Amino acid sequence: MSAEGADLKKRRFLIAATSVVGAVGAGFAAVPFIASWQPSERAKALGAPEEADISKLEPGALMRVKWRGKVCWIVHRTEENLADLKTNTDILVDPNSEVDHQPAYCKNAFRSIKPEYLIAVGICTHLGCSPTYRPDVGAADLGGDVWKGGFFCPCHGSKFDLAGRVFKGVPAPTNLVIPPHMYLSDTQVVIGEDGGAA
Ligand code: FES
Repeated sequence: MSAEGADLKKRRFLIAATSVVGAVGAGFAAVPFIASWQPSERAKALGAPEEADISKLEPGALMRVKWRGKVCWIVHRTEENLADLKTNTDILVDPNSEVDHQPAYCKNAFRSIKPEYLIAVGICTHLGCSPTYRPDVGAADLGGDVWKGGFFCPCHGSKFDLAGRVFKGVPAPTNLVIPPHMYLSDTQVVIGEDGGAA
């Protein structure tokens, strides 16, 4: 795992969280924390889950976590980002995530458990290149006003928004994949395990 400000030697088990719940933004349901966690046998067979500390991930920033040999991104979206994700959805191929590229608990407007955090596999759904994080709203080389931040794949020009939703008219056919994940606390998330919630 590589991550800005993340502790690389985090303990595997976390015993935490009583009955606290996190308020996750206006209009969204609170997210219960998992009181304790161990990888399920199924998850271990598929590859060890990875735990990440997101306590130092500033709004607008991205960190990377390696899970099953793939780079996954965690992006801390701003309030502006969340508002932008509700606009211009007509430029997207699959704005409502009809294609099964996310766990059921992420089939929502933000493709996430907590709206402020996007967690996605950082692999282009065209031919597998690694898209570049481009949070710069209005970037002239990415369409100007229609670009509200997202990911650009340099291989063949595919574009994805900050929910990993693919733009129309690019080679990538589908949205980026959202991996199974769950929150252990406000600042700890594990990728590759969801306690069977999927
Ligand atoms: S691999 Fe990303 S656009 Fe082709």
